[in-house]
Amino acid sequence: MKVFVIGGGGREHTIVWKVKRSPLVNKVYCAPGNAGIMQDAECVDISVMDSETLLKFAIKEKIDLTIVGPEAPLVNGIVDVFEENGMAIFGPSQRAAGLEGSKAFCKNLLSKYEIPTADYRVFKEYDAARSFLLKQNGPVVVKADGLAAGKGALVCKSREESLVALDKMMKKREFGAAGDKVVIEECLVGDEVSVMAISDGENFVTLLPSQDHKRIFDNNQGPNTGGMGAFAPTPHIPSDIMQRIEKEIIGPTIKAMALDGFPYKGLLYAGLMITRDGPKVIEYNVRFGDPETQVVLPMAESDLVEAILAARQGKLADVKWVNKPGGAVCVVLASGGYPGHFEKGKKIHGLDHQWDDGLYVFHAGTRRQGQDIVTNGGRVLGLTAVDTSISRAVDKVYHAMKWIVFDGAYYRRDIAARVLK
Ligand code: AMP
Ligand code: GLY
Repeated sequence: MKVFVIGGGGREHTIVWKVKRSPLVNKVYCAPGNAGIMQDAECVDISVMDSETLLKFAIKEKIDLTIVGPEAPLVNGIVDVFEENGMAIFGPSQRAAGLEGSKAFCKNLLSKYEIPTADYRVFKEYDAARSFLLKQNGPVVVKADGLAAGKGALVCKSREESLVALDKMMKKREFGAAGDKVVIEECLVGDEVSVMAISDGENFVTLLPSQDHKRIFDNNQGPNTGGMGAFAPTPHIPSDIMQRIEKEIIGPTIKAMALDGFPYKGLLYAGLMITRDGPKVIEYNVRFGDPETQVVLPMAESDLVEAILAARQGKLADVKWVNKPGGAVCVVLASGGYPGHFEKGKKIHGLDHQWDDGLYVFHAGTRRQGQDIVTNGGRVLGLTAVDTSISRAVDKVYHAMKWIVFDGAYYRRDIAARVLK
């Protein structure tokens, strides 16, 4: 098979890496890719938002399967474009991608089908939202309805903070049109975990549960980022909780989507809070998590391509997703200044190091410049270690981290630390 991966971050590098290991696959393409993906796949410089050019490329190269990484092309309707033209693609339709594309759509579906989530209200008018906030006492979360690159949820400890957040969204329009509608919700307390599932519209398999580290600094300080590191599996999800997540959350969501007329076929990512009252949905994403994928796929024994083909044929009930024993940890190396302003074009040293078994360098914001590989984004790369336990994987990854050097490089020193305590 020829497989085409769309995207150019650490998640997509990991998907390319995993797809290449499938005995079903003999060639992998990627658009637009990055300097690391170039070593594993043939990269083409097409924007992820240019569905028509991507389609033309897929037809010309006789691609057998396209896998979409980021949410924006999915919400933009790339799956519908490919399917209308008879090209096999893995991901939800534009309507089903509304689960991530509109927080109000997601919350309304969860509430209609009584799937556990934070209490919430949706507002289109600033004045109504403001008077609602004035009546609240405890902490709340103010969220822009539309896509905001993971930065559209503001957790507010006080009424003052929540009013500032609302102003940012609805008055100053810092999130553009995404903030013209806001969701205000109850602040959930507990451990935050990520559970990804592959769905065929009716059946699903869950991948290994994982945990992200969203804040920029150690001890979860500073602003939110796209994710600074991850580990899997997470001990916050023993098997009884996992069963509840499947039975009370993932299963009912897939059923609800089918009942409402937009069956969910693709990768479903549930961001969950394990509260005292059990697991609750924080958000759904309609694609693989980043950097969760960098730990979940290296931990998988099963063939991703086989599972995706089964999902496309509605035959996931026959698939068992098998993971390796042990654990994986990914530490993200970022440009100094991220998630605020940062510089690009810094030469990265040490990439040609001979890595021990179970160590993987997944590129994110990198590009080739002559003979060099230079930084080209906020999150530059992720180093993943797989070992017989999370604790061993942590030692391995931090030991290896010192080999990769660039001007201004920054990474968190406490990935998975809390869970090992
Ligand atoms: P979201 O954009 O919905 O993924 O939210 C981003 C982050 O904000 C989440 O990963 C959580 O850490 C936090 N968050 C969002 N909603 C809630 C909530 N209802 N309670 C507590 N934390 C939340
Ligand atoms: N790591 C969070 C996300 O992929 O949305």
